[in-house]
Amino acid sequence: FTPKPLLGKRILITAGPTYEKIDPVRFVGNYSTGKMGFALAEVCAQQGAEVCLIAGPVQLATKHQNIERIDVESAEEMYSAVMSRFYGMDGAILCAAVADFTALDVAPEKLKRGKDNLVLELQPTRDIAAAVGEMKLESQFLIGFALETNNEEANAASKMERKNFDFIVLNSLQDAQAGFGYDTNKISILFRSGDKKEFELKNKTSVAQDIVSEIYAIL
Ligand code: C5P
Repeated sequence: FTPKPLLGKRILITAGPTYEKIDPVRFVGNYSTGKMGFALAEVCAQQGAEVCLIAGPVQLATKHQNIERIDVESAEEMYSAVMSRFYGMDGAILCAAVADFTALDVAPEKLKRGKDNLVLELQPTRDIAAAVGEMKLESQFLIGFALETNNEEANAASKMERKNFDFIVLNSLQDAQAGFGYDTNKISILFRSGDKKEFELKNKTSVAQDIVSEIYAIL
């Protein structure tokens, strides 16, 4: 018998993309499938945690009975769901690929094709991670993700500081089998101390176990 290391812990996880509507039938989105966040939710639940999984639009099922799932669509809906749930949690893992911009106006009817170009005006969304980072208590942990196309480490490190993460998981885009849609991922973890751990290409469940092991260390 091995005791479950996360028994009694309450963990909030965000996963998947967000969709920002432009008219009743169209949206601006991204390629996130939610696989990494859902793998984290399963691993945390298996380790005894009560998980609150806030998911954008994804084609995935939640299996474990200790996962309470809240489905949202837009960045604004995800923001509200996270803000209303973070209080009372032991920590959060923000894995969602939240849209950085949303339509200023949603057309009430389907946009029609014409001869002219269509110009969409987008405004910045609220940064959920930064807001959680500000409200976080000393006793709560906060883990973020970063996917960078240039200056990966420097950008991830400044993001970790700015958003008050305990550590940040850097997804490598340098590896063909890592990132959006794949069942495998290759990560590095950057810590506030300046330490860095690099991991091999693994399936997302194993990656989730590596991340959860670092959370034990914090708790
Ligand atoms: O700045 P960037 O979007 O690259 O930061 C990524 C991290 O911030 C991820 O952990 C992501 O879930 C989180 N994030 C968020 N709300 C946003 C944008 C990003 O929680 N609006």
